Amino acid sequence: MINVALIGAGFIGRNHFNQYVRLAGRAKVVAICDTEEPRRLGDWSGIGGNLGDAQGTRRDLGDIRPVADWRTLLDDPGVDMVDICVPTYLHAEMASAFLEAGKHVLCEKPMALTVEQCDEMLAAAADAPGCFMIAQCVRFWPEYAFLREVMRDGRFGALKALELRRQGSFPKYSLEHWILNPELSGGAILDLHVHDVDYAIGLLGLPLSVFARAAAQPSGAYDRVHALWTYPHAAVVEFEGFWDMPAGYQFNMGFTAVFERAAMVWSMFGDRPLTIFREGSQPETPAMPATDGYYNEIDYFLGCVERREQPKLSTPRESRDAVAVALAEMESARTGRAVTIAV
Ligand SMILES: NC(=O)c1ccc[n+]([C@@H]2O[C@H](COP(=O)([O-])OP(=O)(O)OC[C@H]3O[C@@H](n4cnc5c(N)ncnc54)[C@H](O)[C@@H]3O)[C@@H](O)[C@H]2O)c1
Repeated sequence: MINVALIGAGFIGRNHFNQYVRLAGRAKVVAICDTEEPRRLGDWSGIGGNLGDAQGTRRDLGDIRPVADWRTLLDDPGVDMVDICVPTYLHAEMASAFLEAGKHVLCEKPMALTVEQCDEMLAAAADAPGCFMIAQCVRFWPEYAFLREVMRDGRFGALKALELRRQGSFPKYSLEHWILNPELSGGAILDLHVHDVDYAIGLLGLPLSVFARAAAQPSGAYDRVHALWTYPHAAVVEFEGFWDMPAGYQFNMGFTAVFERAAMVWSMFGDRPLTIFREGSQPETPAMPATDGYYNEIDYFLGCVERREQPKLSTPRESRDAVAVALAEMESARTGRAVTIAV
């Protein structure tokens, strides 16, 4: 049994808690740390979100220990693993401290706000005994995992074009609106679109260069990005990521992947499930596993901890590169020029 301390009981922390409930028998949440007292005591009724278990409820946490200061968990022998679900600007300090304290660390995306912070985390992980993964849930989402499988086995021939989409309305749910402050969250490019940046790196490797156009709020925070990446194999790779839609616009993610002999299209809230189109045959809708990326990523990380094996499906180095490429897109948007990737 892996004893877990959950740090940050906001939108995503609450979601992760629900996954541990589903995974009871392999892991147990023994402590919940949040600076907000109601939240560490299980009053999650005021917490919203854009996806998954979006609306919170009040929970009876039983014998789970409420913790106000995360530092008190560093030397706690009753904690094997921490799951860091606090705002992004706190990731680097917390993850590094827990790695150095010998804990297994699952930390929410984006890895951090700067490449320097990511490198500090990698340095802390290098000498640490614990497993370490950034929670890039999209890599574990069934439809995206299916696309990766199709790419790897080459059943439809070479990739001609890939378009990744992530779309939403303003995220108004974060505590004190930290997410809307680019200094704390990195704006829509680092907070939202980074999912697709990381996924594309996992699928295709690093691009040679990126070119982006982005739109900003009056505060200067980018809330929309359209990007085009260059690869030596010449596939067209483009992205659309935004959270500037009016309230009520349903969160959506999806992709279009065009291969030599087939095309695959998926939109989370579209009319169709993942559909494969081929000349001469009816569109196919292959069955997908019922579990989502949140469950799958935690299931996978627990497996790594059980086997004492560093994660391979999502490595901290790739998560660091995703931050570097997302920041390069911001530079491209700012300068109007393509940015060469040298990470
Ligand atoms: N994987 C995903 O799909 C996904 C979705 C949403 C958010 N996230 C990421 O998860 C992280 C948290 O986002 P959120 O939407 O849950 O934010 P949130 O504001 O809803 O929750 C953050 C929680 O952390 C707590 N907190 C803040 N400082 C703390 C501290 N020092 N010690 C303990 N608790 C502290 C807050 O009180 C709050 O309850 C961000 O990095 C975000 O990018 C990932």
